[in-house]
Amino acid sequence: MGNASSQKTDFDKDWDGYSVLIDDRKDSPGWAVIREARESHWRELVQLPAGSHILDAGCGNGDYTRLALQDGARVWAFDLSREMVSATERRLAAAGLEAEELQVASVLEIPYPDARFDVVLCFAVIDHVPDERRLDAVRELVRVLKPGGTLYINTPNRYAYTWRAGHWLMRQLGRFPKGKIRWLSPGELQALCIEADCSLGRSLGLELLPPVSGIYTSDLERLTVLPESLISVLDRWYLRVEQRLRRIDGLKPFCFHYFLEATKRD
Ligand SMILES: C[S@@+](CC[C@H](N)C(=O)[O-])C[C@H]1O[C@@H](n2cnc3c(N)ncnc32)[C@H](O)[C@@H]1O
Repeated sequence: MGNASSQKTDFDKDWDGYSVLIDDRKDSPGWAVIREARESHWRELVQLPAGSHILDAGCGNGDYTRLALQDGARVWAFDLSREMVSATERRLAAAGLEAEELQVASVLEIPYPDARFDVVLCFAVIDHVPDERRLDAVRELVRVLKPGGTLYINTPNRYAYTWRAGHWLMRQLGRFPKGKIRWLSPGELQALCIEADCSLGRSLGLELLPPVSGIYTSDLERLTVLPESLISVLDRWYLRVEQRLRRIDGLKPFCFHYFLEATKRD
């Protein structure tokens, strides 16, 4: 595992602490619906050329690193949080997988040369970069892509009204969220990619509706009023409905996460 303490920047959440919290939670039955929804959108959106070199920038505890490795890619990954990087290492080892390199680093100073990767993944990360540095971050992600290579990127979506209503309600109950969520509109994310010299490809919405199982609070407690037995039945139904709804073009701009495929210009 590399060391990049000189690349530490300010970030808006205690990601080391969050990593510890989320590590257990991710394997619980209640998290299954979130895991399945994410895996199904991965299969819909991301196409990795065989044997391709992938960078997972801001890998968190490695969900997408794992999916890329399972798809047969060679994967390099980093995160600003040392705990997240350790969790990724542990989780990959438990799945019998190995990344090429895992290290602590920032999207604002990516420790790889220009045009190094075929594909860069950057999921739910640039919204944690200060507003005035966000374009720098996207440019840095594009710098390490080969010309013609693909950036897959997402942020929480400003027009996710169902989620924003849920969050508002929880805030009134004093439950969520402790940190700030930086919501970007699909147009803002598209503009960042265009400014960073990419052409736009497909887009995908994820999680049009909050899962029936409830919304997780900032301390990852699940807020729900339903018994567990009912939740698992309803969540199965939710997954099927959500997958259909989010494919409807007109609804994509209202999903919680808006994913974009962007290609670096030759
Ligand atoms: C919401 S998590 C997403 C993790 C992972 N990409 C996923 O989708 O499961 C955000 C991650 O971004 C990382 N992060 C925040 N600021 C960063 C930065 N400047 N450079 C790299 N990673 C950063 C955090 O440590 C955290 O692991």
